[in-house]
Amino acid sequence: MRNIKLGLIGFGNIGTGVVKLLKENADILERRLGTRLILKRIVDIDITSQRIVSVEPQLLSTDVNSIMNDPEIDIVIELVGGYDPALHFITEALNKGKHVVTANKALLATFGNDLFELAEKKAVNIGFEASVGGTIPIIKTIREALVANRILSVLGIMNGTSNFILTKMTDDRKDFKVVLKEAQDLGFAEADPSFDIEGIDTAHKLAIVLTLSYGKRVPLDELYREGISDISQQDVEFAGELGYRVKLLAIARQHDGLIEARIHPTMVPFHHLLANVNGNYNAFHIIGDASDSVFLYGQGAGMMPTASAVVSDIIDISRDILKGISWRVPARSFQEKVIEEIELMPVD
Ligand code: HSE
Repeated sequence: MRNIKLGLIGFGNIGTGVVKLLKENADILERRLGTRLILKRIVDIDITSQRIVSVEPQLLSTDVNSIMNDPEIDIVIELVGGYDPALHFITEALNKGKHVVTANKALLATFGNDLFELAEKKAVNIGFEASVGGTIPIIKTIREALVANRILSVLGIMNGTSNFILTKMTDDRKDFKVVLKEAQDLGFAEADPSFDIEGIDTAHKLAIVLTLSYGKRVPLDELYREGISDISQQDVEFAGELGYRVKLLAIARQHDGLIEARIHPTMVPFHHLLANVNGNYNAFHIIGDASDSVFLYGQGAGMMPTASAVVSDIIDISRDILKGISWRVPARSFQEKVIEEIELMPVD
């Protein structure tokens, strides 16, 4: 059986985790896939800094063309993040007939439809499990496990940084700014923290979940969004006295053809599972018309948890390559030729 060859763009935190996981679990991955995954090239603007994983120097390059122009590379793993030049890298990889695995939620929430259309045209795939919920298999759950269901609702804690902040404000009675600094030091906050605390990161993730759940595009700027920067220590304390914990929830619900979609701090009663998701954990409560409630919980960020999701996509795509399947069927939501926008319910 032929080997699968990989090219990684972005040797930062998650990229390092992916290389580490590919190395440390190489034997188990080979057994499960039936062939070897070969990481042929790693591209980054910084190839001199020490990472926690050592790689042979000849693997490293600053030139992205060393991946794009290598016909042997089957899968390009984009872990650069942001819009530019990540959009250019993914577009070029797809145009060259390479499969892509990415964790880039901002890019998919904004340009996902164009990218998936291009991938379909080129008969290649885009894996994006790591873009929402870190290690939690929310994409595979909606797209595959719950594919037979009408999704009635998805409630989620989709941003670990804001959940960490709210948890510390509640349990340790700490001030918002102090905890934000702690979250940044722990390394799971976005480069621009306003993405975390103003609900922008959550909006990117909710947009992806909405498109998967309801099969249509959602205009990001039409999502109702409120972050946690105006929540005071007193607010979380009063909520506690009334029997609630404050959580930044992303909410999607179907109502007679209209979709309610919003992100805001919410008072969640103590007995609800989502009230007990603390620290930087993420969780999703999905209700399907046949499945009823499904609850997913896990690490929504971090080097190894996110790497786990990235490598799961690499394995999925590799299995299809080995079977000669070029396009995985369940991504229906992104395949519609004419993508209408989701009609959102007005928020009072
Ligand atoms: N900044 C994000 C979070 C990282 O805190 O959840 C994962 O998308």
